[in-house]
Formats: sequence, structure tokens, C-alpha cells
Amino acid sequence: MHEMSMGGTDTGQAAQVTFAGLWADLLPVGRDAVSGGYRRYSWTEPDWACRAWFARTATGLGLRTDCDRNGNLWAWWGEPERTDSAAIVTGSHLDSVPDGGAYDGPLGIVSAFTAIGRLREAGFQPARPIGVAAFTEEEGARFGVACLGSRLLTGAITPDAARELRDADGVTLAEAMRAAGRDPGAIGPDDELLGGIGAYVELHIEQGSALADLSAPIGVGNGIWPHGRWRLDFTGRADHAGTTRLADRRDPMLPYAATVLAARAAAQRHGGLATIGKVVAEPGAANAISSAVSAWLDARAPDEAALDQLVTEVWDAGQTAAAENGVTVALRRESVTPPVSFDQGLRERVVGVLAAAGLYAPALPTGAGHDAGVLAARIPAAMLFVRNPTGISHSPAEHAEAADCAAGVTALTAVLTDLAGE
Ligand code: GLV
Ligand code: MN
Ligand code: MN
Repeated sequence: MHEMSMGGTDTGQAAQVTFAGLWADLLPVGRDAVSGGYRRYSWTEPDWACRAWFARTATGLGLRTDCDRNGNLWAWWGEPERTDSAAIVTGSHLDSVPDGGAYDGPLGIVSAFTAIGRLREAGFQPARPIGVAAFTEEEGARFGVACLGSRLLTGAITPDAARELRDADGVTLAEAMRAAGRDPGAIGPDDELLGGIGAYVELHIEQGSALADLSAPIGVGNGIWPHGRWRLDFTGRADHAGTTRLADRRDPMLPYAATVLAARAAAQRHGGLATIGKVVAEPGAANAISSAVSAWLDARAPDEAALDQLVTEVWDAGQTAAAENGVTVALRRESVTPPVSFDQGLRERVVGVLAAAGLYAPALPTGAGHDAGVLAARIPAAMLFVRNPTGISHSPAEHAEAADCAAGVTALTAVLTDLAGE
């Protein structure tokens, strides 16, 4: 079912783990000393250190660890390939955006291992396998496509398209995987693995402040807005900043700037969100007009029609401004995720379990993307959110209080007990 076992066996001999202990062990990995943010990009050194942490932690808990053909990590309590009972999987991701926070992704995995440690200590005997997954390249920070590991697993991206994705240095995913000792020829949908999973429940820090506003430590996701990333490449002509008359310029920075403003206005018109958070100007001289500017548009909206309209308007504005400035512009769609409505039966069951445990957990929609949203196309999926007091995320300032993280572990433990119990 999986290849390249990373070692570890389901011995049932589990070391005691605490949330604080696991958290402290992972915390320094990939943290930039200056910004305090994380730079954990797939198939780089910090990613290897995260993978080693995952394997060490899982093995300490007596779980068997695997890396699937797509580079996603799995830790198993029980043997999914030897049972007819569909597994319950929880997890999240360990990679980060540039200078990301500590919680986005790792909170779900640390909470999953802590919950399993608790179940082990309590003598819980799962009636079906329980898995912890760490999906690779969830943020798309290195290769541009968000949720790449879960997209490959579910067939939401073709292996050929994925192999050709390039990082900022021009390295393809295929090359990066090969350099990491993995076989890029083996990537692609894994129906056998997916077919053995009955439900996926991802715990994640909330990336907004809805729970803080509701004074609730935990929430249950009900859906994800449609969203995507588009790259606009403006090509102009490099020239001297001190001698080129304004009328003679073909400056790609001007249509780029107009596009940033158009994105903001279009988002406002459509009740959505639009962000240009990444821009590369070539060749990047302070005293020269740029030859080219690439800008990445991240757009999200409550429904697909609004999202399409929003992106069309931004693209129209970019083309108009480019033509006015003697610049050419090309649009490339990097990844688009349709709207997600999490499985109603699973959601109601989770809410019921939490209510029985005395946890008030309001339902929340979110504009943030998650592997759970990609998996939801193939298997029942649900999400638990942990309160974020400021709502700040994708930033070193991201934070969750220890008491809320503890409530998250309690919630996840209750959900696993219910879903994996008799
Ligand atoms: C994932 O964090 C996203 O960009 O929504
Ligand atoms: Mn994120
Ligand atoms: Mn995340």
C-alpha cells in the first residue's frame, strides 16, 4: 500500500507524550532567527527535520510510519491494509508559508499525537485503524500549488503537471523529489490508500477571529470558500531611471500597481478577498526601469460566480493598464479549489460528540484552504478549529493560548474515541 517504510512498528508500547513536550521539540525547526517566522518548505532541510520529528514521535507512540508515493507522511495505529474496517485519519501539515506562524499545520499534528497518547494511556482499543497524516506542500510555498500532497493523492492534479512545477530557482518538483531520494515517476492518485479511509478530521488553528468574537475555544468547519492563485507576468523594457523620458518608458511596474488596486476594488465589489502578496521585479535594480514584473493574485469569494467575476475584473484591469503602458501581460492559473461543504453526517456527529463532552463548538465557514477541503471530494472530511485570539495567521504573530490548545486535544480525543470506537 505504501512504499518506503520509515520504520517503527505497532508494538503497543507507547511512551508518554504531552502536548507541551511535542510542541517544544518541534518549535525550533525551520524558525528564522531574525523574523521569528517559519520557513519549512517541502524537500528542504527544515522539511527533513520536520519529517524526522514526525517519525520519532510516531515511533515513540508505537505507531508504524510510512511515506506514501506522493511524499505525505502517515503514522498508523493498527493496520489499514489488513482490516476491512475503514480507518479514521486525523492530521494536517508541517510545511509553512514564508515566515509563517508556529500553529498553522503543526497544531493539528501535535494535537493528533497527543490525543493518541491519551487514548493509549486510557487503554482505548480502537475498533478500526487510526492514522495521523502530514500532507506535503500544503501551503504551495515552494512549488506554487497549495495542498499539493492531498491533490496528488486524490487525483486533483495530474502527475505530469505536478512533476513540472518549478520553485523560484527553477528546480522542478521531479528534480527536488529525486534529490530527496524519492521517485517522482510514482506520484499520483492512490485509490487503495484513500479507499481504506472512512473519515478525515483535521484540527487547525482558526485563521480569523470568529471564535474569539463568539468566546468559543473550539469551532467546527462547515465549508471553505472557493479560492485560487493566479500569476500575472508583465513584460516591459529595462531602461535607465535617470535618463529615460516618462513618455518613452515601457515600465511593467505601472500596470502591476494598477492591478493591485484593481484587485482590492474587485474584492470589495464582490464581497470577496483579493491579495497580491508576492511580487518579483526583474532585474531588481534601484536605478533601472524593470524589464518584467511577476505578481501572484490570491483570490477568494463566497461562491464560484463571484470568484470568477472578481478574477475576470482584475485580469481586465491588468490588460488595460498593460496596453496603456506599452507592456505585455500573461495570466497563468496556478491552482483553483472549488467550494467545499464538509460532509453533513460527519459534521453533525462531531458536533454531537463535542456537545456530549460539554464543548460548545459553533459552525464556521472559512476562506482558508486545507487538505481536508481537497480530501472532502473523495472521503467524508471534517474540521475542528482552535481559537486564535488575534485572528492573525500566515505571520510570526500567529498564536493560540495553551488552554485552547488543550481544549482542542480534548475535542479531538473525544472525536477519535467516537469515530474509532466500537
Ligand atoms: C492556506 O493556508 C491558504 O492559503 O488558504
Ligand atoms: Mn496556511
Ligand atoms: Mn494550514
